[in-house]
Amino acid sequence: MTRRLLVTSALPYANGPIHLGHLVEYIQTDIWVRFQKSRGHNCIYVCADDAHGTAIMLKAEQNGVTPEAQIATVKADHEADFSGFHIEFDNYHSTHSPENKKMSEFIYLKNRDGGHITTRPVRQLFDPEKQLFLADRFIKGECPKCGAKDQYGDSCEVCAATYAPTELKNPYSTISGATPIEKESEHYFFKLPDFDGMLKEWTRSGHLQSEVSNKLDEWFESGLHDWDISRDAPYFGFAIPDAPNKYFYVWLDAPIGYMASFENLCAKKNLNFDDYWAADAEGKTEIYHFIGKDIVYFHALFWPAMLDGAGFRKPTGIFAHGFLTVNGQKMSKSRGTFIKARSYLDNLNPEYLRYYFAAKLSGSVEDIDLNLEDFTFRVNSDLVGKVVNIASRCAGFINKQFEGKLADSCAEPELLAQFVDAGTSIAEHFERRDFGRAVREIMALADKANQYIDEKKPWALAKDPANREQVQAVCSVGLNMFRQLIVYLAPILPVTAEASRSFLNVDSLAWDTRQQLLISHTINAFTPLMTRVEKDKVAAMVEASKENLEPTAKVVAAPVAKEANIEAIAPTINIDDFTKIDLRVAKIVNAEHIPEAAKLLKLTLDLGNEQRTVFAGIKSAYKPEDLIGRLTVMVANLAPRQMKFGVSEGMVLAAGAGGKEIFLLSPDDGSTAGMKVK
Ligand code: 2FM
Ligand code: ZN
Repeated sequence: MTRRLLVTSALPYANGPIHLGHLVEYIQTDIWVRFQKSRGHNCIYVCADDAHGTAIMLKAEQNGVTPEAQIATVKADHEADFSGFHIEFDNYHSTHSPENKKMSEFIYLKNRDGGHITTRPVRQLFDPEKQLFLADRFIKGECPKCGAKDQYGDSCEVCAATYAPTELKNPYSTISGATPIEKESEHYFFKLPDFDGMLKEWTRSGHLQSEVSNKLDEWFESGLHDWDISRDAPYFGFAIPDAPNKYFYVWLDAPIGYMASFENLCAKKNLNFDDYWAADAEGKTEIYHFIGKDIVYFHALFWPAMLDGAGFRKPTGIFAHGFLTVNGQKMSKSRGTFIKARSYLDNLNPEYLRYYFAAKLSGSVEDIDLNLEDFTFRVNSDLVGKVVNIASRCAGFINKQFEGKLADSCAEPELLAQFVDAGTSIAEHFERRDFGRAVREIMALADKANQYIDEKKPWALAKDPANREQVQAVCSVGLNMFRQLIVYLAPILPVTAEASRSFLNVDSLAWDTRQQLLISHTINAFTPLMTRVEKDKVAAMVEASKENLEPTAKVVAAPVAKEANIEAIAPTINIDDFTKIDLRVAKIVNAEHIPEAAKLLKLTLDLGNEQRTVFAGIKSAYKPEDLIGRLTVMVANLAPRQMKFGVSEGMVLAAGAGGKEIFLLSPDDGSTAGMKVK
């Protein structure tokens, strides 16, 4: 049965370039969409730039251009980057579009008329020089708890306290440097609690990954709250109807941008919008949103509630993925691992990254790591060494000795049947977004194909003209196996697949075409399909991504750091701050793996008079058994932290670049556990 699907990726902000962290999601979605298309389904993939908000408005001002000009430039850059990575949208629009304005107003008015909007005054910090209200990230000051200077308006990076921006001591606006004043204004709220029952039901009925539903249960337990959807002028966004000087908060019109981009496509392609979005479309059309795990709240609560309140259907599924680390750590500008899409494309083939991400993605919200050495090794060994090798080993004989013609019958029907049959389970893995498993299965087949060729040794057979037919038979089996593999890899490697299609001289590589074996079929000349990853190109990319960490412009530092998952730049501390840290020598009396955790080990530390449990991100460098009995240094007065796997009661000290290079501080003078470090 042909399915009708509409698929989206999160809309990237129009205030900065696409980087490899973003690409996890676009590559994941694109592979899934290409897979659905290969299966013959009617699948549409839309996206847009997320163009509104204060950050974009300020950036335009900094650059001395209008916000419209600013977002147009960024959109063109984004589209070029996506196309460079072969991300094939059916439509790429902008949230600053007439369709989105109309739809945002419609959804808002429906909700308002349904009684789901309320207003009340909000007291907020206001920049008297710039004449604008300041979001938390545009305010800095001294932490109300520990007094640390230059802390953001919501939390302290030194003592981890969270607070309201009005609690900061000596606050200043990061935009103008002025001292903010408190000012009150009327805000509009979306009454999320009105949808409590619907959301509890919806979030537990198969639309979300289980880890995500569990997270939502926690949010339900702490209660849903009204959502502030208005911002005062000046703001780059859409004016709220009947509300002078008020604008929709960027997060209100961002997801509506999915619908608006689709509506824009409807006009171009003569599609029927209601077939997808009307309340009764749920049974007819599937809608899926691919997102990062950090924006689940918006997509699994606000979004279905807004849609419901406006009389639209809700999505079929929300697929959240984890963050990207590079070489085991957050992307870092100083290490050159904050890699922009463009810097990658300047040096390396995008299909390498598509393959590597596919091999790492599992359909869960776990973070994935791009280890650049493993990346080089894996792509070279799997794609060049295994897959492409099959074709290059067989094509020469067929082209030179048989004028490109494959054998008249299949010498190994059972072997080929195995390759065809594997398509069923490989498809299941793709469908569940467990691309890593699909890749493992495909590579196991590639190994089998190479073993077959190794055993038959066509190069040895070819030495004796009496074996002519056998050479043709073996190489024909090899090329048929190659064709099956390329059908399976095509969603991941669209360009290599197209080059292979042309070499194999077939019309299509759609999933079902694998059933028809190539018998008495003529292939075209073979041209190398993929070259090896060159280590110096990887190094050049990292070098080009290194930035001297001059203080970033104040205005952008916080939001960019947060969104981009960049390492925090540690502030300077004075001796008083330092003496607050209670460092102790502790003995590691137990260390265990946590099977579900990618980076953490669970340590039991003996401080002499008590034992503590600490979760430490050192799994990439240490085996638990090697740690037991060792002494280390821990921060003993760190506030306990609830982590996914339990409460962490302190922190062990380690240093290093990450990955295998993490070195746990270990005093080797036999100091007694519990001794204070001076
Ligand atoms: O987090 C972000 O980058 C947002 N620009 C994503 C928006 S997704 C959708 F809701 F528009
Ligand atoms: Zn503090």
